[in-house]
Amino acid sequence: MIISDNRPIGVFDSGVGGLTVLKELQNLMPYENIIYFGDTARVPYGGKSAPVIQRYSQEILDFLLMQNVKMIVIACNTASALALNKLKTLTSLPVVGVIDPGVRAAVKAVKGQKIGVIGTKGTIASFAYQSRLERLCSKIKVIAQACPLLVPIVEENMHNTDLARLTIDTYLKDFKTLQVDTLILACTHYPLLKPLINEYFDKKITLVDSAQETAIEVKELLAARRLVADTEKIGTERFFVSDSPDIFREIAVKFLGRELAGECLHHSWTD
Ligand code: DGL
Repeated sequence: MIISDNRPIGVFDSGVGGLTVLKELQNLMPYENIIYFGDTARVPYGGKSAPVIQRYSQEILDFLLMQNVKMIVIACNTASALALNKLKTLTSLPVVGVIDPGVRAAVKAVKGQKIGVIGTKGTIASFAYQSRLERLCSKIKVIAQACPLLVPIVEENMHNTDLARLTIDTYLKDFKTLQVDTLILACTHYPLLKPLINEYFDKKITLVDSAQETAIEVKELLAARRLVADTEKIGTERFFVSDSPDIFREIAVKFLGRELAGECLHHSWTD
């Protein structure tokens, strides 16, 4: 009987944003090995259609399976919204997205009856959050808003600027008026905007960080399926990207607050 498993966890995102999830996975499970794929040549996923996101996600899944991973974490809200169900049909390994953990945490946290969700156009239009929230709790009113400009603001290192404040005000005004008390940050980039969003709401709103909630779910799943690594050595990290590893390394520092420890290699389907 298998009681432990030292194979890596396979994590993927459209680019660097999923590093917010990798960071939480490592915080909670420092002994796990991780292989991360960032589809930097095809980012952003946020405005692309479901068939395209499903094709990209399937290609990345095949790549990660070849790396002999023990489970898959879709560390991207857009891919979780549009491709999770499809990927689950393509492998017998556990596949976890970022949506269900965020939804469960929001339902636990909400005090009134209104939950806000912000994400990319694709995530919001897919209705993935809205339908799950309404299924879990029919009394909850969900107010959802696509905030496409927030991703480039974070990527351009402008997440602590007046431009970011103005954009937050433009997108989040209605949440204030409607007195939403819990807001799901349904995009990998938004955890970097937490300080500004908290400031905007005078800290009177609960922010649900899908990255943290996903790490908790992954930890529970590994324990339940006896897939936890049995080593006391800090886990390794390896990165693959579909565009330049150098550019990825540079931006990654912003998301992780440190340099990448592991190697970062290029992998592409078109070469
Ligand atoms: N990773 C994406 C998400 O969480 C944001 C960036 C993109 O649009 O690709 O939805």
